[in-house]
Amino acid sequence: MTTTNLPTNQELIAKRQQHFLPTAVLYHDQPLQLVKAQGEYVWDSEGKRYLDAIGGIVCISAGHNHPKIKKALMGMLENDVIQHTSTLYLTRYPVELAETLLEEAPEGLDRAAFTNSGSEANELAFMAARQATGETMVLNLRHGYHGGTSGTLSQCGHHTWRFRAQPNASAVSALEPYCYRCPFKQHPDSCNLECAQNVETTIQTATHGKIAAMVVEPVMGVGGFITPPERYFSEVTRIVHEYGGKFISDEVQTGAGRCSHELLLTKGLGIDADIVTMAKGFGNGAAIGGVLMRSEIADELSGKVYFNTFACDPYQTVQAKVTLDIIKQEQLADNAMAMGKRLMDGLQGLMQQHQIIGDVRGRGLLMGIELVKDRKSKAPAAAETARLMDICKDRGLLLGKGGLLVNVIRLAPPLAVNAAQIDTIIETIDSALHQLAKEA
Ligand SMILES: Cc1ncc(COP(=O)(O)O)c(C=O)c1O
Repeated sequence: MTTTNLPTNQELIAKRQQHFLPTAVLYHDQPLQLVKAQGEYVWDSEGKRYLDAIGGIVCISAGHNHPKIKKALMGMLENDVIQHTSTLYLTRYPVELAETLLEEAPEGLDRAAFTNSGSEANELAFMAARQATGETMVLNLRHGYHGGTSGTLSQCGHHTWRFRAQPNASAVSALEPYCYRCPFKQHPDSCNLECAQNVETTIQTATHGKIAAMVVEPVMGVGGFITPPERYFSEVTRIVHEYGGKFISDEVQTGAGRCSHELLLTKGLGIDADIVTMAKGFGNGAAIGGVLMRSEIADELSGKVYFNTFACDPYQTVQAKVTLDIIKQEQLADNAMAMGKRLMDGLQGLMQQHQIIGDVRGRGLLMGIELVKDRKSKAPAAAETARLMDICKDRGLLLGKGGLLVNVIRLAPPLAVNAAQIDTIIETIDSALHQLAKEA
């Protein structure tokens, strides 16, 4: 790795401020310039190594620069494999990706399409559901996030991402299945799934009685890894279907072997979804999204053209196909579950010692720690969350953050993370929390 001739961080920050839109934000008080990556680690411009427990933003599934991905891509470049064709010409790569993906799909989801991003995957899902049902209304959840395009932003449950003149057509929000801050003041052990019932009352009160779809993340990523109870999904899919809608499972963060022994959490939890969308870890960081749907929905698109210039390009589709192969061959979903359990146990142990931890939740290797000023009031500890990230960064560990109240630490390390690395994550967070307490 060469760190010579790199612009300084200050130069980059100044030029970003000059050239970028003010919407481009940075992690950390002293932002990092990352220049190299391998497996579970990344290096900054000073040559310092970090254990990457967030993977870009939940994008690194197989591991940074996995040797099999490098070999496949370098082999293509060396052989002058065509870089761009569009779907108007035949190429084997997207077809092979579709075959590999459909082998792992939930039963009944037998057609695939590819896009450049998760936002576009969701746009295509909304369009397909609307075309199939003849309805326009799509339900979402407060605290949900589905992308940065106009249609997906109208389904966004976060004020932070909402702009003044943003159109908001055919979208309505149901209340969140957020057990730690239950909007119905219930407890998960004794509740009557009021959150699921709210989907029905929302349809009955805020729509004309029929809907096109409901879009739900099986674990709500940007919302701070809000983890709905398992029984939520059977009730909600039943309601959505009863009112004529398609259930869209947004697996942009949860997919690719991160959250269950299956590639898709939808299959792992037996969610009766009609459409599943993917991106992020699906391509191990490549700019690719995917949509899986039932044939009967796909057939309703017949006679129309959906064209996406870069979707299905050889290099992206090869990277996604090799990523899926690695996840299967190296049994990374099983490892994610085992390491996820170790992480959960460790974090629950930290919760007993550190009062600032209000909640620990997640599935597999998608784990959130919600920080609060005190456990009774649950006042969000947003400044402390940012500070904790900075302390961990200084100690060689990269974490993410999220949640509407910006008080949730997000952990999503590469799927091959090992026990020693999980222990390092827990020990580093522990020591950082002690430091945070000393600073208070
Ligand atoms: C659940 C979910 N859906 C969709 C998206 C949008 O994906 P992209 O940023 O690739 O457009 C995101 C991005 O964070 C996401 O977390």
